[in-house]
Amino acid sequence: MSLAPLSVVIKGTGSYKPENIQTNDDLAKKVDTSDEWIFTRTGIRERRIAADNEHASDMGAKAAEKALADAGMEAADIDIVIVATITPDMPFPSTACLVQTKLGIPNAMCMDIEAACSGFLYIMEVAASLIKTGRYRNALIIGSEKLSSILDWEDRTTCVLFGDGAGAAILSGSDEPEVGVIDFKLGADGANGEVLYMPGGGSANPATPASIDNRLHFLKMRGREVFKLAVKVMQQAAEEILEQNGLKSDQLACVIPHQANLRIIELLSSRLDIPMDRFYLNLENYGNTSAASIPIAMDEAFRVGRIKSGDLVLLVAFGAGLTWGAALVKCP
Ligand code: ACO
Repeated sequence: MSLAPLSVVIKGTGSYKPENIQTNDDLAKKVDTSDEWIFTRTGIRERRIAADNEHASDMGAKAAEKALADAGMEAADIDIVIVATITPDMPFPSTACLVQTKLGIPNAMCMDIEAACSGFLYIMEVAASLIKTGRYRNALIIGSEKLSSILDWEDRTTCVLFGDGAGAAILSGSDEPEVGVIDFKLGADGANGEVLYMPGGGSANPATPASIDNRLHFLKMRGREVFKLAVKVMQQAAEEILEQNGLKSDQLACVIPHQANLRIIELLSSRLDIPMDRFYLNLENYGNTSAASIPIAMDEAFRVGRIKSGDLVLLVAFGAGLTWGAALVKCP
């Protein structure tokens, strides 16, 4: 039995955004919408759209290569690969196994976890817990989404909100106490599943000519209900994690929220009494990239110096399920 580490730290991060930029004006040529409507209601100006031959595993592998380089590690150092995605390349094998092959990781436990936009926080908790057993040293965790493949491009109420991309992090055991991934508060309420879901493509509604005619293979959302639930569950998760760690919100150097809608984040800011300038935001450029949203934002926040050594950072998300989560990270 190996010795359990004293903490689990983020050793490196990386992100990948597809080259193709789709602006709100580009979208207004496809559906009845406008830059003014989208920007004032969501804060989104543009999003990235993956190429036809670029899938969740390709974007995830590219983000992972950058995270490995950032950590100064090689593929052979990785013991665990976990991918959070609602747009896997295919139902099986897992996107994690496809990424493992693309990166040439010789031997690792590989799996996907599906918790929609909260997915990255879920896989962070799972990977950190596995490392804490002492049986694994380094985990590669990835959020990767090709949401453009499940959007109904005739439905203006959903297609304007989302984008494609991937973010990755390397988690490792450390002997430095009280740093790294400090705590999690994760939850779900399956009773609210139908506010945001994709009915087709699983065992309940396998692909048939009828399921395609009925547009079952596209994301469906009741936006107003999602909006209200999102603010409520993120506020609750943030307050609970601060309270269970004896912290006040003014001790947070930075908050990285799921990048779904600026108005949701503004309401969260006022309810938590944390000024907006402490939130890291990039949704204007990428829209909602689901499980990729937090790791892309976290990678950018590290690179632009918004997160520094000793900083206490709150990650907070909500997503389909309905799932939610908060994580506290202290940078070594
Ligand atoms: N362009 C122009 N008009 C539009 C568009 C559009 N893209 N979309 C909707 N409209 C119209 C509607 O048809 C409606 O018209 P009507 O009054 O004539 O009926 C009007 O705008 C208002 O529509 P609402 O849906 O009431 O607009 P609302 O102000 O609620 O904003 C929005 C909609 C932006 C979707 C908001 O509800 C929201 O952000 N909800 C949260 C969504 C979200 O974050 N989802 C991600 C979940 S995370 C995950 O797990 C994937």
